[in-house]
Amino acid sequence: MKRIAVLTSGGDCSGMNAAIRAVARSAMQSGLEIVGINKGYKGLIDRNYFLMSTRSVSNVLQRGGTFLQSARCKEMMEEAGQRLAAENLKGMGIEGLVVIGGDGSLRGAVALQRQGIRVLGIPASIDNDIPFTDMSLGVDTALNNIVYAVDCLKDTASSHDRAFIVEVMGRDCGYLTLAASIACGAEHAVIPETGFSIDAICENLRKRYREGRDNSIIMVAEGAISAQSLSEQIKDRIGFESRIMVLGHYQRGGSPSTFDRLLGSRFGQGAVEALLKGETGKMIGLASARLQLTDLEKVLETGMRPIDQTMIRLSQALDI
Ligand code: F6P
Repeated sequence: MKRIAVLTSGGDCSGMNAAIRAVARSAMQSGLEIVGINKGYKGLIDRNYFLMSTRSVSNVLQRGGTFLQSARCKEMMEEAGQRLAAENLKGMGIEGLVVIGGDGSLRGAVALQRQGIRVLGIPASIDNDIPFTDMSLGVDTALNNIVYAVDCLKDTASSHDRAFIVEVMGRDCGYLTLAASIACGAEHAVIPETGFSIDAICENLRKRYREGRDNSIIMVAEGAISAQSLSEQIKDRIGFESRIMVLGHYQRGGSPSTFDRLLGSRFGQGAVEALLKGETGKMIGLASARLQLTDLEKVLETGMRPIDQTMIRLSQALDI
């Protein structure tokens, strides 16, 4: 193997630069040429790439986002786009590809593997919805962002006896909402996996203010209900005014946490090592603090990583 490539695809997250850097550095250390593909699969189809040097990855470790940039690419969902992407890789003399991204991006990697390309996937998505890894890249930084925002909100909420409804990202997955609720001491975590009762939320709000509490934080996953809708429904039922905060893409940015820098570095180096050992069609993941490889097809067949029941029990024990 002489030349490999790396791309980031789908929604960006903090820690992607650490992973790209580790892929590039460990590839070069092993005598491989490393090609950076700009703008994910779109760049692969458009032949938007460059040969990386050590300088290409200097001063990126502490930066959020991805300096290779990312895109959601419709062409990669079609056979014609997948064929063109594979032909371009072969035309560039690229013998292995590291794909850093979420489930859609890993799906693209499997498609390329079927076209005869050696691929290795790195799970990166703030949603933490990818199975066969305890944590995806970017989750820890996103959680820290959410906790910081909610701590700020609590200060102002307490000064005004206010209730805030905080909308957290996570298309179909409540992990971020649940974990952040535990870390922030929120009153409710509304997540798609478990269902929820608006009456119970209303009752709890009434009770808290009867008891003289000066704030309430209700956290909702975007995939369960919007903060706006929940706020309106609470107002309709009990006439209670709440403020809303939609955290949105703020959660995805910012300097990566130490955990994500280390995880990105471990995933990146592990992916190159696996390619060099002849592995292909695998996703690198974290299992009880150790790196593990799982067949990409198995990861995608399994679907969304189920919510951790011990976290549900923890949130119940803490009266969330
Ligand atoms: O999958 C990651 C994610 O951040 C989800 O939490 C969110 O629903 C989605 O991406 C937003 O996508 P976009 O950046 O395309 O608006």
